Amino acid sequence: MELKPVSDWATDFDVADPAYEANPFPIWDELRGSCPVAHTDRRGGAHLPTRYDDVAAVAYDTEHFTSRDVGVLPPVEGSRLLIAPPITSDPPFHTDARRILLPFFSPSAVDRLEIKTRAICEELIAAIADQPTADAAGDYAQHIPVRVIAHLLGIPEGEEATFTDWAIRIFQGSATNPEDGREATREILAYFAEHVASRRQERADDLISALIDADLDGSPLTDKHILGTCFLLLMAGIDTTWSGIGASLWHLATHHDDRDRLVADPALLDTAVEEFLRAYSPVTMARIAVDDTEIAGCPVHAGDRVLLNFPAGNRDPEKFERPDEVLIDREKNRHFAFGLGIHRCLGSNLARMEMRVAIGTWLEHFPTFALRPEIEVRWGGAQVRGPREVPVTLA
Ligand code: HEM
Repeated sequence: MELKPVSDWATDFDVADPAYEANPFPIWDELRGSCPVAHTDRRGGAHLPTRYDDVAAVAYDTEHFTSRDVGVLPPVEGSRLLIAPPITSDPPFHTDARRILLPFFSPSAVDRLEIKTRAICEELIAAIADQPTADAAGDYAQHIPVRVIAHLLGIPEGEEATFTDWAIRIFQGSATNPEDGREATREILAYFAEHVASRRQERADDLISALIDADLDGSPLTDKHILGTCFLLLMAGIDTTWSGIGASLWHLATHHDDRDRLVADPALLDTAVEEFLRAYSPVTMARIAVDDTEIAGCPVHAGDRVLLNFPAGNRDPEKFERPDEVLIDREKNRHFAFGLGIHRCLGSNLARMEMRVAIGTWLEHFPTFALRPEIEVRWGGAQVRGPREVPVTLA
């Protein structure tokens, strides 16, 4: 799909434009000052708020904006929308669909996954420790969240490559090949259908079994609900967090003062993770307007797509001092990388733990790692943005 390059970001933006994926920050700065809610007719049309308060207002407003289609890019024409509770549902159904999952992502549930996460990190590091160079994204970050979420769901970690391939086709390929993303979705649903059928025969100590035994208003969940939720958890748990870990390691590989500070004082990891989440927020979501309404005075029509540009809001100078600087000890940091309101990320405790453990363990082994300037780093992803490789020297 060849598209002409963007000449006016206020009226003709394209979130899948290579220039936007590579470096959206100056574009958002300009829009915030001139046209804070940009618009485009491309890819089915969409609005793009860039100020924190405007993004927050839409995220909180479940009356005028529905979550039935949260894709940043429109679905393939003629395809039926995927139901993936709770992310694609609105109140009151959303509340119950979310409640069922809460125990699996509570702080104590996440604590129990920390040892497992550390073991995954150590195993990945052992495989590259003797090499002079590595890809901190492809050899490391990319493998951590997928194994943890596979463990939680109760699907084989050994099939990791298939899960990762699905995530790449859905999140990274769908701008250029939407039909393939749709096919990946079908493959995931068929895959989970088999697992659900086998758990119906024999339960296991995993999330799929818990979904089979869960009830909603006194009735068991439908297969459609269970499969959609499994799809959501697998996809939400992979690309998002690996992009977060990858972006953090890219930052430390290019900012040696921050790297050295974290090595000397690992207690800074908590604030550093929050700052990486703010500055390199991976996730943009979407809503559909239910009726004619407005965002910051800009008209929005029923059926219009609105992008919840959390990454741009997190760089808004009205909300954050020195927004374009990464301050790993930033104290006041009310970022919304995990969203806001009823759909706020259910996996935020898990994601934070994975980022903290992954970055901390990496620094224990490679305290002087650095980016290899001779290899270009590609950043990508309209919905989930991160560095696709982080080529580094290890010592
Ligand atoms: C750095 C990593 C992550 C980021 C930045 C992130 C970001 C987000 C954002 C922005 C939302 C709000 C969606 C909306 O408003 O429509 C969300 C929702 C969600 N996230 Fe995450 N996420 C991350 C990791 C995870 C992980 C590891 C999981 C675990 C499976 C997860 C599961 C979910 C779920 C289930 C929802 C839907 C919640 C609902 O609709 O009530 N996320 N996430």
